[in-house]
Amino acid sequence: MRVKIVAGNWKMNTSYQEAHTLMEEIVGRKAELGLHDAKKVVLIPPFPYLQYAYSEIAEIENLYIGAQDCSRHERGAYTGEVSALMLQSVGCEYVIIGHSERRQYHQEHADILFEKVEQALAHDLRPIFCCGEPLDIRSSGHHNNYVIQQLYDGLFQLPTEKFVKTVIAYEPIWAIGTGKTATAQQAQDMHRMIRSEIEKHYGTEIGKYHVILYGGSCNAKNAAELFSCEDVDGGLIGGASLNAEDFIQIIKAI
Ligand code: 13P
Repeated sequence: MRVKIVAGNWKMNTSYQEAHTLMEEIVGRKAELGLHDAKKVVLIPPFPYLQYAYSEIAEIENLYIGAQDCSRHERGAYTGEVSALMLQSVGCEYVIIGHSERRQYHQEHADILFEKVEQALAHDLRPIFCCGEPLDIRSSGHHNNYVIQQLYDGLFQLPTEKFVKTVIAYEPIWAIGTGKTATAQQAQDMHRMIRSEIEKHYGTEIGKYHVILYGGSCNAKNAAELFSCEDVDGGLIGGASLNAEDFIQIIKAI
């Protein structure tokens, strides 16, 4: 059986006080989440709250903290950057790499992303590697090749023993923050395609167990249908993860 994961990417939202309230609400209802070894939740707040967030969940099994990005550098004179070592040292288990907002607004290209993946793995962080096509690529029908290329550039250069520590998140850009969700069929088709590409590259067994999340306007109403797809192993949730009730409903939908 594949592990299921629901991850909440808070992006650049919440004051410390708001983050505190959100954490308390989620942690206060931990019994409802039904977490176990094959159903995990990752909370991904902004950098300044990571240490606090970890202190809230440190004792709770199958609830983890992740970061939204990490530097491609190990350490040194890179003002404003946050290294994988720093993240690991404050309790992070996961780190998002290659989110479309980083690719778009920070010019993060394939070579940079692969360096980030390597940094994360070198410090025992699990990369949540994001891929996904913009609307014009979807409209032109080239979305499968586009996503495959992103995976080969950013992830498939890893040897098997490192690749198995990663998670893939398919986030079609046209569905992020737009309220326009991929249909369950669109999500399933893409996830199936990604899994067969993993099988081709790393072998059937590895493909069978690799976790592939869906992201893009996933909410309390549509989560159950998306998660019912055979190859969708959970979600990377943006807006809806900022509301404890909605986020909890999404977790329960899996
Ligand atoms: P939304 O759920 O707000 O569309 O964001 C998805 C996302 O980008 C998660 O990383």
